[in-house]
Amino acid sequence: MFNTTAWNRIRYGLYAPVYDLVAERAFRDARRRALEQVNWHPGMRVLLVGAGTGLDLPWLPRDVELQATDLSPAMVRRLERRAESLGRDVQAEVMDAERLTYPDDHFDVVVMHLILAVMPDPAKGLAEAHRVLKGDGQLCVMDKFQADDRPASIARRGLNAVTSAIATDITRQAGPLMSEAGFLIEQDTPVMMGSLFRALLARPA
Ligand SMILES: C[S@@+](CC[C@H](N)C(=O)[O-])C[C@H]1O[C@@H](n2cnc3c(N)ncnc32)[C@H](O)[C@@H]1O
Repeated sequence: MFNTTAWNRIRYGLYAPVYDLVAERAFRDARRRALEQVNWHPGMRVLLVGAGTGLDLPWLPRDVELQATDLSPAMVRRLERRAESLGRDVQAEVMDAERLTYPDDHFDVVVMHLILAVMPDPAKGLAEAHRVLKGDGQLCVMDKFQADDRPASIARRGLNAVTSAIATDITRQAGPLMSEAGFLIEQDTPVMMGSLFRALLARPA
């Protein structure tokens, strides 16, 4: 399968100038609903992983401390510009979700929107999210997933060879992935295209 971190860095660098045109309106409602599932408190330390151009920023409370990471420098530059235009103080860094440089038990909330279906090894991304989250922290996920109760069909797996190389994996199952990473799912809400896109809120088990 042609889905590697090196390829993702290249392709998201190419997509960055047009990303908002494709994703801003399309995912507005889904990302807002996902973030509404979080139990927010002033002063929380929040990490956006694979934050892209920062389309989550308008939907985040203003009284939290924000850090954002992405694999693509072009995405991070756009996020910084968005943060500035919104008057938000965000520490943004180029970083691989599989190798976060933050200490253990550091964040109250980790947001992973539209990245678990993109990165080649989502289990590693979830393991890192689990490591940097505090014991009572919250993981906010919004992405497209195969239903938990049945594996992807052969046809879907065939199509996935193409979609995972140019866009996204369409065979991943949120429930098994998150429970194997040590998360307990508290909320699981279909938010777009029937139940293809789901908003999940989870805590370290
Ligand atoms: C579909 S976009 C989603 C962006 C943003 N989270 C959103 O909701 O609009 C996927 C993002 O994940 C980033 N990405 C892909 N693999 C990554 C990795 N291993 N570590 C960090 N970011 C990654 C890409 O550069 C891209 O910005």
